[in-house]
Amino acid sequence: MDKSCSPVQYVFVVTRRRATVRGKAHRFGGDWTGTKLAILGDYLRGYTTALKNQRFKTAYIDAFAGTGYRTLRDPSEGPNDGMIFPDLAEPDPQSLLDGSARIALKTEPRFDKYIFIERSAERCHELEALRTEFPSLAKDIDVRRGDANEEIRALCAKTKDWSKHRAVLFLDPYGTQVEWTTIEAVAATRAIDLWLLFPLGVGVNRLLTRSGEIPRSWRRRLDLLLGTHEWYDAFYRVEHVPTLFDTQETKVVKATTETIGRYFNDRLRGVFADVAPEPRVLLNSANCPLYLLCFAVGNDKGAPIAIRIANHLLKTVG
Ligand SMILES: C[S@@+](CC[C@H](N)C(=O)[O-])C[C@H]1O[C@@H](n2cnc3c(N)ncnc32)[C@H](O)[C@@H]1O
Repeated sequence: MDKSCSPVQYVFVVTRRRATVRGKAHRFGGDWTGTKLAILGDYLRGYTTALKNQRFKTAYIDAFAGTGYRTLRDPSEGPNDGMIFPDLAEPDPQSLLDGSARIALKTEPRFDKYIFIERSAERCHELEALRTEFPSLAKDIDVRRGDANEEIRALCAKTKDWSKHRAVLFLDPYGTQVEWTTIEAVAATRAIDLWLLFPLGVGVNRLLTRSGEIPRSWRRRLDLLLGTHEWYDAFYRVEHVPTLFDTQETKVVKATTETIGRYFNDRLRGVFADVAPEPRVLLNSANCPLYLLCFAVGNDKGAPIAIRIANHLLKTVG
């Protein structure tokens, strides 16, 4: 990781942000947030346009839906990119921008259905209010309060025949909340395209300690996210370096963020029809990689065009 992402920076950030979100505004992220949402919005437009004359029932599923709004961060407040506890994000009076839910609701041609999943009761309330704002879509907006992993796994299992359905799922967690079993359930439908924010710098890289000694609870979190125990051998290498005194020094070498990102994208490729080979690295203002925006396509038939569009957006937007 870039040395400019010091622990001091993170502490600074945490101590500056105390309150939880109030009202519509939901504050998170920096410029990379705009890039992420612009890529998503462009993909959704391309997706519904491409499926406009097809027989599928289409859905947009947002499993970490937020409120539907976001605010721009005030640069004078200093960096917030490395928030350890981003749930402590502070409200502010700035102008409201569209979050992912509103971007989906504004997409033309429209989806047949919108499913918004959110853990926070207050944010669900804001999502419910979107029905008033989008009256023509109101009856097709389904807000579900609950845990993203449980809700998505249940949703995938409930539809027995996915062949008449197509959906885009956006997984936009703050950290390492997504579980591999959820990703497997999504991939198994062969009908859902996935945009996923992988917590490269904000999550995984910080759980992988420099010494290679990782607390059990952190290992468990990585097991759940990556769906295997084998990540340790992929991310750490033991080197034996000769010393001046004819002995050997043992040195643990940790993987780079690039290796970690590639490892996860390869895992995705193993269960989906295909993946965008170069996920977008979302950097903070100090050039630290925070997240990877990954894309995976569900259906073999639609894969080539979906990947072509996603690649183009990942390379050019923002
Ligand atoms: C980064 S925000 C999502 C922002 C949203 N995609 C947007 O663009 O407006 C993450 C959201 O996930 C919610 N969340 C956190 N953990 C969750 C979980 N396990 N299940 C469902 N929602 C969760 C948080 O309350 C928060 O609103």
